[in-house]
Amino acid sequence: MDAIKNLLTRNSISKLTEPYPSMDEMKLVYKAALRAPDHAWLRPSEFIEVTGKGLDKLSKIFTDYIKDTNDDLNDLIIQKYKNAPYRAPMIIVLITNIKEHPKVPALEQMLSTATAAQNILLALNALNYGAIWRTGKVSLNNEISKYFNLDKNSKILGYIYVGTPSMEPKKIPEINIDDFVTKWK
Ligand SMILES: Cc1cc2nc3c(=O)[nH]c(=O)nc-3n(C[C@H](O)[C@H](O)[C@H](O)COP(=O)(O)O)c2cc1C
Repeated sequence: MDAIKNLLTRNSISKLTEPYPSMDEMKLVYKAALRAPDHAWLRPSEFIEVTGKGLDKLSKIFTDYIKDTNDDLNDLIIQKYKNAPYRAPMIIVLITNIKEHPKVPALEQMLSTATAAQNILLALNALNYGAIWRTGKVSLNNEISKYFNLDKNSKILGYIYVGTPSMEPKKIPEINIDDFVTKWK
């Protein structure tokens, strides 16, 4: 697919089904992810690829986390988190392993993983798969890493749900770039 067309047509897809990308296709996806800008080449980004029985494991992590941390729990909330991972046949967990560096603060390292996430979305679009980046209560906090047996320097930036679209993609809105761009000449 033409590179600019890929950038302009990427569209988050929330309803996803099998098939998910093959191992060889995912190698390309991770290569693209690891070409993200990375100050001082600290390589802070890490991914967990979840499929099959791994989805049950993720479902248990989400359920345990929400039970341990939510004050006004009810069955509906528990079911929501229990079912969440089954919304796609593959999920990529986005992790930043924050390293001490005199010139590269934690935020820059998380931004590097965020750009890796965008590369993942774009690579999947180029391979004609659908994907969506989700966060919710189960990411971007200091507690969730423990449930993955990760240390406290590992931050979970969210989850990319991956598969084959099972819905019509939404219409991409027209955007007037002049509303967002100022030119200094
Ligand atoms: C960091 C981040 C977290 C997000 N978390 C969620 C989420 O938890 N649930 C959700 O439905 N969309 C979430 N989104 C939005 C979708 O990924 C997507 O961007 C949105 O549906 C708009 O679609 P588009 O990307 O095709 O414009 C998140 C986006 C970002 C960048």
